[in-house]
Amino acid sequence: MVDTSVTLSGLRLDNPVIPASGAFGFGAEFAKLYDLNILGALAFKGTTVEPRFGNPTPRIAEAPMGMINSVGLQNPGLEAVINEELPKLSEVFHKPLVANISGFSAEEYAACAKALGKLPQVGIIEVNISCPNVHGGGMSFGVDSKLAATVTREVKAVTTKPVYIKLSPNVTDITEIATACEEAGADGLSLINTLSAMRIDLKTRKPVLANTFGGLSGPAIFPVALRMVYQVYEAVSIPIIGMGGVSSAEDVIEMMLAGASAVQIGAANLRNPFACADIIRELPRAMEKYGINRLEDIIGGAHR
Ligand code: SIN
Repeated sequence: MVDTSVTLSGLRLDNPVIPASGAFGFGAEFAKLYDLNILGALAFKGTTVEPRFGNPTPRIAEAPMGMINSVGLQNPGLEAVINEELPKLSEVFHKPLVANISGFSAEEYAACAKALGKLPQVGIIEVNISCPNVHGGGMSFGVDSKLAATVTREVKAVTTKPVYIKLSPNVTDITEIATACEEAGADGLSLINTLSAMRIDLKTRKPVLANTFGGLSGPAIFPVALRMVYQVYEAVSIPIIGMGGVSSAEDVIEMMLAGASAVQIGAANLRNPFACADIIRELPRAMEKYGINRLEDIIGGAHR
């Protein structure tokens, strides 16, 4: 019997599979399809202090081997997440939550982290400084190492929960941002968020997305994500949650060989709502096929 368990900042997970924020809502729709407690953990939709309606539509565009979204951090706001969404989720999910937070100032990130960090079901605070779909917040913190460090410090100051910073691939050198976050006290890193992208409608000759640009996710970005996880693993000594187009048990193994301690599944859930369940079921078989007894032993294995 193979061992699929992994540890993230002292948090033991039965397996490394975590639905990514934004691709799983607050779990309600997926709980109707399968028992969510098979998951290693669950990252819920990025939460801001105030409710957000999100960007105008269309905000989804198709792309070869992927999709582009410009959702714009739609969420019901911190109060409703704490008082309505998370109590509902706690009825069906009893594993650790990854609380994904967003903001338009370091203070806003800190307010979310402080409130969500108090909840026993929250195991990790994931700080999204990489959303490409909003102006004046999100990614603007994630492409500047000084701002990334400031947000990291402000969040660390208000919570005792492990703080993971979610990094943007839309930078020249992701290791520079990663090391700035580590030096500012981050407990871990999540990477990568989506790649800035667009489509043009040939009939209207206009951008498909109302917001013009969006973020590309799905299998198309998997090799890019893998390269960045590999680079960041060499640059830092804190754990990495790898993500970006992961769609199969083999992808999970590849991501862990690059240096990820756990893996998030995003766009695959939108194509196949059973994607996480399928990957968790297939993982032991894939481990046996590649001669892996203990999954944790392979983390960063491609560097040795
Ligand atoms: C969004 O809500 O725009 C997606 C979240 C993200 O890309 O960080």
